[in-house]
Amino acid sequence: MELNRRTVIAGAAAAGLAATTLGAGSAGAAPGGRKPVREPFGKLADGTTIHRWSLENGGTRLKVLDWGGVVQRLEIPDRHGRHANVSLGFDTIDDYVAKTPYFGALIGRYGNRIGKGRFTLDGRSHQLSVNDGVNSLHGGKQGFDKHVWDVEPFTEGPDVGLHLYYTSVDGEMGYPGTLRTKVTYTLTRHGEWRIDYEATTDRATVVNLTSHVYWNLGGEGSGTIEDHELRIAASRYTPTDAGLIPTGELARVAGTPFDFRRAKPIGRDIRAGHEQQVQAKGYDHNWVLDKGVTAKPEHIATLRDPRSGRTLKIATDQPGLQFYSGNFLDGTLTGTGGHTYRQGDALCLETQHFPDSPNHPAFPSTVLRPGRTYRTTTIHTFGT
Ligand code: GLA
Repeated sequence: MELNRRTVIAGAAAAGLAATTLGAGSAGAAPGGRKPVREPFGKLADGTTIHRWSLENGGTRLKVLDWGGVVQRLEIPDRHGRHANVSLGFDTIDDYVAKTPYFGALIGRYGNRIGKGRFTLDGRSHQLSVNDGVNSLHGGKQGFDKHVWDVEPFTEGPDVGLHLYYTSVDGEMGYPGTLRTKVTYTLTRHGEWRIDYEATTDRATVVNLTSHVYWNLGGEGSGTIEDHELRIAASRYTPTDAGLIPTGELARVAGTPFDFRRAKPIGRDIRAGHEQQVQAKGYDHNWVLDKGVTAKPEHIATLRDPRSGRTLKIATDQPGLQFYSGNFLDGTLTGTGGHTYRQGDALCLETQHFPDSPNHPAFPSTVLRPGRTYRTTTIHTFGT
């Protein structure tokens, strides 16, 4: 099927995902927030115009590209009411196309790694696109971060937001089944940023969608996040092999640098020399959330920058959280503020199912079958 705006939306509606807010008139006046506005951001090599949407509500300002659903800027106030952009990003579409740090992007079909890019489902084996040594990372060479999404703005009571649609055809990057995906970004009147993910398939497949924002609550380009205090409600994590593929073990965090059950500065134990840290060049692991899979999002992590006073609380229904301490930032990328990004200049907190789940029957399942709808929600609450 040729994918264009019409077929993606028609497909999404047929799959029962969309309906209410499509079409003209969806961007009415929001009592609490500013109506989403669109401007050109740049052009792809084939001439396609990439747009940037601006949203504002409850003190939070968000700028989103239709390229990869990328959060290009996210501005929140500090304890004195001064806004800063707390998310790493680029200024040009060329950078987003050419480079792969996944700044602010939507990740699919499978967040994090699948070992050797291979898995077996219902007796059939599948070979995925491999893009991280021998492994498949964040959906393969051209994941959901490297596609144009169809974007529809909406206002609903005091909330403002965007619906983003992308249809991934059967066999794309090696994954079975045509996956119709709808992601909704909502800014509430309290300034929360909520992400709702939905997907349906026409053949059994695996799905693990997430968002790859790089946080620096002191402001993008302001230096290290090692002073940020982090709490993660997890007693176990999934140790990995040298390729960052889980071994299958659920190891206890107690007595290790991986213990974030009580808030501590990220820098406190980052140089402890634990073999798992040496291998990953810092933290780059999946924490097994104590609450497990839940019907509703529950608060599982808090990040706080003592200097600015800014805090981020994350709630999710997912069983895992990838905490990545920006280990691969090596000073070669220049961001929106004109500064180069170096190791530890930001961190990612990716709500997810565990990496490589399709090869670990004991991990919570990531299988999606026809007739079922994949649904998951993550809520970011900002404060001081
Ligand atoms: C995730 C992975 C990291 C790295 C980043 C992107 O967080 O776990 O190993 O690949 O994405 O650079």
